[in-house]
Amino acid sequence: QSLFAPRQSLAGRKVAITAGPTREALDPVRFLSNHSSGKMGFALAAAAQRAGAEVTLIAGPVNLPTPSGVKRVDVTGALEMRDAAERAADLCDIFIGAAAVADFRPAKFAEQKIKKREDNNEETVALVKNPDIVAGIAARTERRPFTVGFAAETEKVLEHARGKLTRKKLDMIVANDVSVADGGFDSDRNAVTVIDAAGSEMLPSALKTELAEQLIARIATRALAP
Ligand code: CTP
Ligand code: CA
Repeated sequence: QSLFAPRQSLAGRKVAITAGPTREALDPVRFLSNHSSGKMGFALAAAAQRAGAEVTLIAGPVNLPTPSGVKRVDVTGALEMRDAAERAADLCDIFIGAAAVADFRPAKFAEQKIKKREDNNEETVALVKNPDIVAGIAARTERRPFTVGFAAETEKVLEHARGKLTRKKLDMIVANDVSVADGGFDSDRNAVTVIDAAGSEMLPSALKTELAEQLIARIATRALAP
């Protein structure tokens, strides 16, 4: 993008974004989840809306206000998030998977609260793999939006992110080192590397709101490139 080129507008474009964690229920009172705050996904939704897009934000359980002008769909588990994401993807031009989807869910949901007993000092929970939401959308042959994923890594960040870009057939991936203090899950700041088939670009540590503006600008440029 040249210094003098106007920012690519997203006016008239539809963008769908997943954000936050998912909760995988074990029984009526317990779940498996992770520390995702949803801040990055919500910041992306706000930035895309400001760029002129019609935004659908598919949100796991998070404690964040809905960005103004954004359509929010609240979900809990990965399967519910997948269904909402697939529906939104049918209509959108750009799909961004920013959610920290639980990789596994309990194999069965206990209808009643699981009780501890006198004799079970150890307990095991059987888990089954959740569907990969962003990969499912990127693998479409019809109605396939420009698809962007995130890669949360604690080591070999770029190598693992490039692997995910290829394996999931994404158009772009945002690599995120979640092992550093100044970044990752609950922080207001983050530093990322944007990777696509053409190469990579480091975006240094910034507020997630600022980073979101930069990411949306790059996604818009790449997605709408003739
Ligand atoms: N993702 C998804 N559905 C899943 C798991 C992940 O859509 N069931 C998406 C995330 O939203 C993110 C990307 O895939 O955009 C990468 O997520 P990440 O957890 O970093 O990668 P995984 O493929 O799950 O691999 P691993 O956790 O083993 O590193
Ligand atoms: Ca994962």
